[in-house]
Amino acid sequence: MALLGVNVDHVATLRQARRGKEPDPVWAAAIAELAGADGIVVHLREDRRHIQERDLRILRNTVRTRLNLEMAATDEMKGISLEIKPSKVTLVPERREEITTEGGINARAMVPFLRSYIKEIKENGIGVCFFIDPDLDQVEASKDAGADMVEINTGRYSEAWEVDEHEREAEKIERAVEKAKLIGIGIAAGHGLNYWNIRRLLRIKEIEEYNIGHSIIARAIFVGLHRAVKEMVEIIREREK
Ligand code: PXP
Repeated sequence: MALLGVNVDHVATLRQARRGKEPDPVWAAAIAELAGADGIVVHLREDRRHIQERDLRILRNTVRTRLNLEMAATDEMKGISLEIKPSKVTLVPERREEITTEGGINARAMVPFLRSYIKEIKENGIGVCFFIDPDLDQVEASKDAGADMVEINTGRYSEAWEVDEHEREAEKIERAVEKAKLIGIGIAAGHGLNYWNIRRLLRIKEIEEYNIGHSIIARAIFVGLHRAVKEMVEIIREREK
């Protein structure tokens, strides 16, 4: 069964716009779980622009499904992950100036570093996922470095405008997924996915998990979070029918 991870960073972005207390991403996570989400995703950024450590600590005690912590591969974040012990960490590149995560990590260029970086995290029973571009060598490098899973960056696919380019990007994802399956590493996908473009990727049966934030929170403004999550869950579950 394919799983849906709901990223609640955008709820925290709205809260931080006023540096206040609402809306609370902890509430959002609970509603997402009640609506059928299989996991909650948060990105604790170095600049703390949305999710705060307070959120992470409370979520660790309230999330009943799976807590996926996106983070940069820094010493500070390793310390936090070892203390909080989320179900899984997803390593992402981070630049202060970026609006959102711009690309995957270059696992190939950092295999020895990544292998030693994740050692203690894995020893603590935390799953390790690398967010990578749909590139066969990056899939292989992730396996070499010891990741349990890769999350394929669907950003380019999501941004593709014309139908041919869209299909070309989907095929790139398909090839990366095939490679991951072949070498025996778990497969997630995410970035820029919405209620429409998810459908082509649902045809790739080996994708085990879809991580989605912006489109769900954007829809929630108009229809409510419970309904927005439930509609996405229903689309993803259609694959099993
Ligand atoms: N996966 C990763 C690794 C991300 O960094 C993000 C954005 O925080 C997402 C998934 C979700 O992307 P979106 O908000 O565009 O759905």
